[in-house]
Amino acid sequence: MTRPVVAEVRDLRVHFPVRHGRQRLVARAVDGVDLAVHEGEIVALVGESGCGKTTIARTIMRLVEASSGSVSVGGADITHARGAALRRRRRDFQMIFQDPFESLPVNATAIDVVSEGLAIHRGDLDPAARREVALAALEMCGLTPAAAIAERRIFQLSGGQRQRVAIAAALALEPRLLVADEPVSMLDVSLRAGVIRVLLDMRERLGVAILFITHDLALAGVFADRVAVLYLGQVVEQGRAAEVIGTPRHPYTRALVEVMPKADGGRRAARTLLTGEPPNATATTPGCRFAPRCPLYRQLGQPERCRTEQPPLRAATPEHAVACHFPDLEVSPTLKENTT
Ligand SMILES: Nc1ncnc2c1ncn2[C@@H]1O[C@H](COP(=O)(O)OP(=O)(O)OP(=O)(O)O)[C@@H](O)[C@H]1O
Ligand SMILES: [Mg+2]
Repeated sequence: MTRPVVAEVRDLRVHFPVRHGRQRLVARAVDGVDLAVHEGEIVALVGESGCGKTTIARTIMRLVEASSGSVSVGGADITHARGAALRRRRRDFQMIFQDPFESLPVNATAIDVVSEGLAIHRGDLDPAARREVALAALEMCGLTPAAAIAERRIFQLSGGQRQRVAIAAALALEPRLLVADEPVSMLDVSLRAGVIRVLLDMRERLGVAILFITHDLALAGVFADRVAVLYLGQVVEQGRAAEVIGTPRHPYTRALVEVMPKADGGRRAARTLLTGEPPNATATTPGCRFAPRCPLYRQLGQPERCRTEQPPLRAATPEHAVACHFPDLEVSPTLKENTT
């Protein structure tokens, strides 16, 4: 990938103090993540609930402070940017959220929502020009006829329309990066494809880069250019979307892929069972974080290496990296749940 980097995090750590009864613990929400999003690229962040996806996104947006590591844009470090430098970023980086009901003011009209950011960031536009830009953004997001939809209030719109208004508000500012945190997971299945198509269309037309957070591996596989799989605040596998989802190399990704519904409705292969403790961001181990749940770890007789040494993210192919001491080893069928 030779296109310019739009946003990059290096060795990013975000630790939160948490209380557990009387104990004071540290939740390692993000624990040493390297990630870059290039111009016009769609990168998907996937992984179970609590693995740090939203925290990474919010740190890039500068809504959360990094504990250590850096966030940079085109080589410029913005980890601790303030004032004008941060305001600039607030325009260049836009975020849309899971629940368009919660994230948008329900009584505002669609055009109010889109105009608000323009009023802040585009002082060069007079009200008539602002209205024109806002209408064009609504139209681009498939909200037609835009002049009619513009006057509707958010509560009068469907979930899919609401999410399109949120996208229009973000894109009216011509951002370089759109961070989309589970943007379709609250929508009816029938509306999802439409919203995804709008995002793809925006990438085509505006060259906007998208950091796309999702639980849906199948969607990540077809929609994203690259995928990063997170486990407890760390990237365990990363690479071209088709490769990571098509030929996963980490036992965690493999287990996630095995539970994916088959598009053709065909018979599913036996699934790997993820047993052991549920992931806990406050637990500490010098070794691999996935080991307590890893079927390979059990199969191989709990190798010391997995217990004591954190596997680094290593390139398996030029476009595919994996953090496992024993990548590609097959899990024995006896450790799988038979679903047939
Ligand atoms: N402000 C906070 N204070 C304390 N802990 C936090 C805070 N924000 C997040 N965490 C913890 O950090 C970890 C990662 O949370 P995060 O919301 O980033 O996960 P996620 O991958 O987005 O999950 P989900 O798929 O459920 O949205 C979790 O253990 C969470 O409880
Ligand atoms: Mg989240």
